[in-house]
Amino acid sequence: MNAMSPHHENVTEIDARLSGGYVPAERKFYFVKPMLRLEEITKIYHSGEVETTALEGITLNIDRGEFIAVMGPSGCGKSTLLNIIGLLDSTTSGSYYFNGSNVAGASEAKLANIRKENIGFIFQSFNLIHELTVAENVEIALLYHKMSAKERRARVHEVLERMGITHRADHRPSQLSGGQQQRVAIARALVSQPKIILADEPTGNLDSIHGDEVMQMLTELNHDGATIIMVTHSTRHASYAQRIVNLFDGHIVTESTNRRAEAFADA
Ligand SMILES: Nc1ncnc2c1ncn2[C@@H]1O[C@H](COP(=O)(O)OP(=O)(O)O)[C@@H](O)[C@H]1O
Ligand SMILES: [Mg+2]
Repeated sequence: MNAMSPHHENVTEIDARLSGGYVPAERKFYFVKPMLRLEEITKIYHSGEVETTALEGITLNIDRGEFIAVMGPSGCGKSTLLNIIGLLDSTTSGSYYFNGSNVAGASEAKLANIRKENIGFIFQSFNLIHELTVAENVEIALLYHKMSAKERRARVHEVLERMGITHRADHRPSQLSGGQQQRVAIARALVSQPKIILADEPTGNLDSIHGDEVMQMLTELNHDGATIIMVTHSTRHASYAQRIVNLFDGHIVTESTNRRAEAFADA
């Protein structure tokens, strides 16, 4: 990500007043905030007498256009982290800046609105509604958007085409293979044109061919500008990401930059 990118929406201009006089346009300074910033986030679940600390002291910056893989053993807090990033779950303490404003403690209505405008989710088990057709499953993601039925259908058609499943539009999810069901789920995540895609083990229920296909699609979306945060157990699939965050027992233990994917992204 180029920090000086002129189309970065988070750029705050430090204007001439700070330096006491006129500064030519090309010499202006820019202060770039990350798109997402988690600051000392802790999440404790209470169920009955039992307290589980799922995350503790998580500080993480995510820039627009990044592709991040989150790894770590089962139960270490990966899904909790993704759900907090996606505003599906609340934090116990800490701050979460979404496009610069702290959303920890915001109302559910406000969070729903931010989610609708910004975030698409992809899950390991697809989470499709079995009573609905493929096209209806995708269209559902647009129901809370102000949009005519005609425009909705056009968007659904376009995204089904992109995923290569137009011929399955009137089928039920149970009539499709796992790989096809995940394409429908990706189509549903994409149809609202989110800037951020959160994927929780998206290849976890797929064979290696369909898993690779999903990784190709995510890579393409990232090249088209989407920010992607993906949980995975596969080191091979993590290698598609530019940055790998390793969690253990609710803590970030290591963060590494994947030079190969980074070079690819900048090309
Ligand atoms: N809704 C919940 N209520 C109580 N405990 C939970 C809940 N969700 C997750 N946990 C606990 O929090 C910890 C982290 O879970 P999770 O984020 O799902 O881990 P991962 O995705 O890495 O497998 C686990 O100990 C899990 O049992
Ligand atoms: Mg999980």
